[in-house]
Amino acid sequence: MPDSNPTTQPSSKQAEPKSNPSPVRSAYRRLAPVYDWIFGPSLEKGRRTALRAVGALPGDSVLEVGVGTGLSLHHWDPECRVTGIDLSPEMLGRAEKMCQRRDLENVELHAMDAQNMEFSDNQFDKIAAMYVVSVVDDPTALMQEILRVAKPGARVVIVNHFEHRHPWVRTAERSISRATGLIGFNAALPVDPVIETEGFRVLEVVPANWLGYWTLIIGEVVKPGSTTEG
Ligand SMILES: C[S@@+](CC[C@H](N)C(=O)[O-])C[C@H]1O[C@@H](n2cnc3c(N)ncnc32)[C@H](O)[C@@H]1O
Repeated sequence: MPDSNPTTQPSSKQAEPKSNPSPVRSAYRRLAPVYDWIFGPSLEKGRRTALRAVGALPGDSVLEVGVGTGLSLHHWDPECRVTGIDLSPEMLGRAEKMCQRRDLENVELHAMDAQNMEFSDNQFDKIAAMYVVSVVDDPTALMQEILRVAKPGARVVIVNHFEHRHPWVRTAERSISRATGLIGFNAALPVDPVIETEGFRVLEVVPANWLGYWTLIIGEVVKPGSTTEG
């Protein structure tokens, strides 16, 4: 059961020698102090759309993957039990302060790798992954973990930038992806492996945010024996 108070619980799996931090953790250690300023309002529309698409109901157990500084946490229904996980202690520290400031007693936070979660199978009714799929090292592992911890029939909503369909834009994105990789973001991630993940039934794929440069993916989890199977 989730705690009633927001907590950050560093996971033993995350223990990492300080001399060799992962590039993602290094990137978000640097970004944490300015993250809300740079990516707060600019990406807010997509967050709001994603939360609406999740459609969390009172009593739902919700997982926010890559919760970051917790910019969306106060928008969840207070009757939901919300679990936020993130790899970056610096981002999570800010999310924790946000929970305290807003007195969000329905939220718990964990330092955890979303590619190797410490939750049991079939735990969550709803899962949101906002602007994180192109940040993790292995998006396929992330999707598999999301589907593992989701209950059969659970709704999964992803908002992310994917490789552009226009060939010229795509070429530009590929050429800058080496640089963006250094700041913890792959600008040229193809959407197909995500929407074709086995056990993920895609219901809708729509443009999101300004100029539709981001994509909102709404889907549900199909597991053997679930009512949505078939
Ligand atoms: C672009 S930020 C998005 C934050 C938040 N979802 C938002 O809407 O602003 C990406 C977040 O994913 C986290 N992240 C990256 N790799 C991760 C992983 N393997 N497991 C958990 N979180 C990860 C980063 O630390 C960062 O906080």
